[in-house]
Amino acid sequence: MTEPLLMIPGPVPVREDVLQALAEPVRSHTSAENAAAVRRAQRGIRGLVGSEAALVHVFAGSGTLAMEVALVNHARPGDRVVVCSEGFFGDRFAEIGTALGNDVVPLRSGWGRRLDPEEVRRACAAGPAPALVTVTHVDTSTGVLADVAGLVAAARECGALVVLDGVCATGAVEESMDAWGVDVVITGAQKGLGLPPGLTVAAVSERARERRAELGSIAAYYADLRRWEPVMEEPTRYFSTHATSLVRALGVSLDAIEAEGLGPRFERHRRVAAGLRAGMAALGLTPLTEAAALAPTLSVLAVPEGVAEADLRAGMAARGVLVAGCLGAFAGRGIRVGHLGNVGAAEVEQTLRAAASALGTDPAAALEAAGADLGALTA
Ligand SMILES: Cc1ncc(COP(=O)(O)O)c(C=O)c1O
Repeated sequence: MTEPLLMIPGPVPVREDVLQALAEPVRSHTSAENAAAVRRAQRGIRGLVGSEAALVHVFAGSGTLAMEVALVNHARPGDRVVVCSEGFFGDRFAEIGTALGNDVVPLRSGWGRRLDPEEVRRACAAGPAPALVTVTHVDTSTGVLADVAGLVAAARECGALVVLDGVCATGAVEESMDAWGVDVVITGAQKGLGLPPGLTVAAVSERARERRAELGSIAAYYADLRRWEPVMEEPTRYFSTHATSLVRALGVSLDAIEAEGLGPRFERHRRVAAGLRAGMAALGLTPLTEAAALAPTLSVLAVPEGVAEADLRAGMAARGVLVAGCLGAFAGRGIRVGHLGNVGAAEVEQTLRAAASALGTDPAAALEAAGADLGALTA
């Protein structure tokens, strides 16, 4: 059976050369070769997040572990943590902070809408200064691209450290960690980095490292960045076994990302998003996300009257294309289509054809509409 095309905003399609790197003989976790691969990964991640000097941690885990790492290392139990939430994954920071005993102040934008930086200013003024403010660059449940520069500026005015969740953005959307004043950017392997799932990535500023040092002992062991720091500075050292094959494959993926060039890569994501949305609109599926906040990495689309989203997804899956259902307040109202990483015109075309066929419609109008942004798509 051929594998379906992954257009879920989950794990993305992986390049053949990256898969080949994963299949190579396993390396020792303390070898010079693995250390070189870790350094190569760190250099590449610094480029993607826009930082000259952040210390990049890469270890086995997931995006959620990276979120937990960002909170447990930089805020004490009882510290105020302001969570800028634009959906399900923003809310996850509030859940983690609550589990860690932080004094969590959730700011919620309403589903599909952007949070106004003034809300952060109001929250800062309304109580003790927050130790930390979290921002989700793209919330994968609502398709909202946050006003990161605005939210970070507001957070910095009250002296907070800023954590940016880049799971659905890093490597696909421009990030300027140093210029924005972000202290920690976190991500996982399986989206913009173009790998199978399995890595926790955190780029940590000098200011955040100082905060970690001030906290002293924390209620974490594997997630304690002070235990990882010596390893990330000299990767032949041991704390816990490196994910050697994934780190090697990350280097191959970063080579491809850098060969494409970040500017052209971000532009490709914008064009793919515009093309996919134009094509879907021709099929009657329109964004649930407000127009000003549409992310280039996924589309959250309402299904037409009379169409059950589960039936549409099942119909598309039967035609070899996997898309996801909606979460939270949008559950049952539409579908989520991921288009980040290695997705291009061919994948958009396959997705539009599958959707049209599942809806029992001719794909020509959708392909023509998408072609205005993507070219070479007309039937
Ligand atoms: C924006 C965002 N943050 C965090 C996560 C959690 O990542 P993981 O599923 O790797 O734990 C996800 C997962 O999709 C996400 O989209």
